[in-house]
Amino acid sequence: RVTVDTAATGPAISDDMYGVFFEDINRAADGGLYAELVQNRSFEYDRADNASYTPLTGWAPRSGDPQVVDDAGRLNERNRRYLKLPLPGGLINAGYNSGIHVEKGKRYDFSVWARTDQATTPLTVSVTDPAGAALADPLRLTVRGATWTRYTGTVTAKTTSITGRLLVAGGGAGTLALDMVSLFPRDTYKNRPNGMRRDLAEKIAALNPGFVRFPGGCIVNTGSHYGYDAPNYERRRSYQWKDTIGPVETRATNANFWGYNQSYGIGYYEYFQFAEDIGAMALPVVPALVTGCGQNQATDDPALLARHIQDTLDLIEFANGPADSTWGTVRARMGHPAPFGLTHLAVGNEENLPDQFFARFTQFRDAIEAKYPDITVISNSGPDDTGATFDRLWQLNEDAGVAMVDEHYYNSPTWFLQNNERYDSYDRQGPKVFLGEYASQDNRFYNALSEAAYMTGLERNADVVRLASYAPLLSNEDYVQWRPDMIWFNNRASWGSASYETQRLFMNNVGDHVVPSTATGTPSQEDLPITGAVGLSTWGTAASYDDVRVTSADGTQLFADDFSAGDANWTNIAGRGTWAVTGGAYTQSDTAAENTMVMAGDPAWQNYDLNVKATKQS
Ligand code: AHR
Repeated sequence: RVTVDTAATGPAISDDMYGVFFEDINRAADGGLYAELVQNRSFEYDRADNASYTPLTGWAPRSGDPQVVDDAGRLNERNRRYLKLPLPGGLINAGYNSGIHVEKGKRYDFSVWARTDQATTPLTVSVTDPAGAALADPLRLTVRGATWTRYTGTVTAKTTSITGRLLVAGGGAGTLALDMVSLFPRDTYKNRPNGMRRDLAEKIAALNPGFVRFPGGCIVNTGSHYGYDAPNYERRRSYQWKDTIGPVETRATNANFWGYNQSYGIGYYEYFQFAEDIGAMALPVVPALVTGCGQNQATDDPALLARHIQDTLDLIEFANGPADSTWGTVRARMGHPAPFGLTHLAVGNEENLPDQFFARFTQFRDAIEAKYPDITVISNSGPDDTGATFDRLWQLNEDAGVAMVDEHYYNSPTWFLQNNERYDSYDRQGPKVFLGEYASQDNRFYNALSEAAYMTGLERNADVVRLASYAPLLSNEDYVQWRPDMIWFNNRASWGSASYETQRLFMNNVGDHVVPSTATGTPSQEDLPITGAVGLSTWGTAASYDDVRVTSADGTQLFADDFSAGDANWTNIAGRGTWAVTGGAYTQSDTAAENTMVMAGDPAWQNYDLNVKATKQS
């Protein structure tokens, strides 16, 4: 029975409450949301990114002996490697997943930076299938002289293919130098050049998100304790927003925490533009110089800290400064003279060293608030939903009057069902909660349902929980580092998970305020799935279960009993003999997967298809 108090008005719910968290994990950016079709377009893939990489990953020589070099003839200081192609010669790029996806009748913009040691060199660009059959009429360009120059052209696909290849071939004699070999669909989201893949961007836009948290996650703070001048590998692991802006050929590619190379083709400008395009608030996360995500290191270099703090102030100017300010000029030059209107910014992500993190966070916050008092500076509570780090960080945040605290947790669906009341007891006067990352641990309908149930608890506490985003947002099905994920894709298609539909439902139906209600009734039965042949039972997370009913697949009840944490066995149930617990007694734990016990009983029950239902008591 649900009783609704129509006379009362509960907390207001912000239109921005539900948003998305985009991190370049599972190849969410290159080969994903970033529409570029060529993999490793600037030959910067490196063993430091991934042990399997070479500078020619993604490429195969077609003829001649193409060599990637790093010498004084480079395109620029931050795009150091380029290709030397002895002529005649050519090489082929295989794109991502099964290849380059082209659609009949659609246009694709090719571009390349090139120079030649000849007066002129003919360059032929072909989009083919793996056997070499043309998918479009070839593009013929002429490279002139020894100065790096950008050459462009457009091809129109004559045939649809999901296994396309890009062949770049030079004729004549001498050596051709190539860099930034790009094939970009003309058809991007909002037709932006250097833009987003339309189907993925549209799926995100269809959520109607209130905000976009970016760029991470673990990729943000990883390596941030290394200095700017640290040697190659360490330096490359640190994500710094200034590396990600300006013309794409000047953006230094970087090793990604998740084990691949990131081109920064989607950089801070593109994040802000995308957030604006989908009507969402941009919410960047900057590193706090204390690494989380298993690294747990803090820097004690005051100069490095000062530089990161200054970078953060510069970031705010890049987003909000007038078009004639130092960083506002850069934004204007990139195509957006008007400010982006940044209002929130998070410092740090899941730090496991509470005191070290908070000491640095405080310095960031002081500097930001001194110059930009209207910006909300968000702190966090570490990687877990509970525990010593969580408690310490909350204490520090509360004591310092922090405006908003980022919480993260990935738990079982049962946890989400059992913790609906989590925020009912939070201090109404304390810091607000930004639930920046959460998901129940699978991509099944039951997960989506448990998340929906949980979100009613978030919404009921909208005066405390101000922002919430499921995580991660995207996953390329062939490059998975983390699951579950909200939207899945490959090189040609994308599809939302059941959790996507939950998020879409909530984000498109945000109420104005909570209508207080109470519910009474009998506890519902919980499915306790049995897996394995001999009654290997994976239990839920309650301390005790009453009226446990075991039925055969056709619904026939076989036995019923009560069961509590610590019970060692069931005996003599329904005349079926002793059921000994051979895999350890049932102990209450947070995840159903940990509550595994093995019941060995009447051999006649071996391989029996069992269903277990119980009424959860606590
Ligand atoms: O969402 C995936 C990862 O989970 C994020 O990078 C990190 O913040 C968290 O541990």
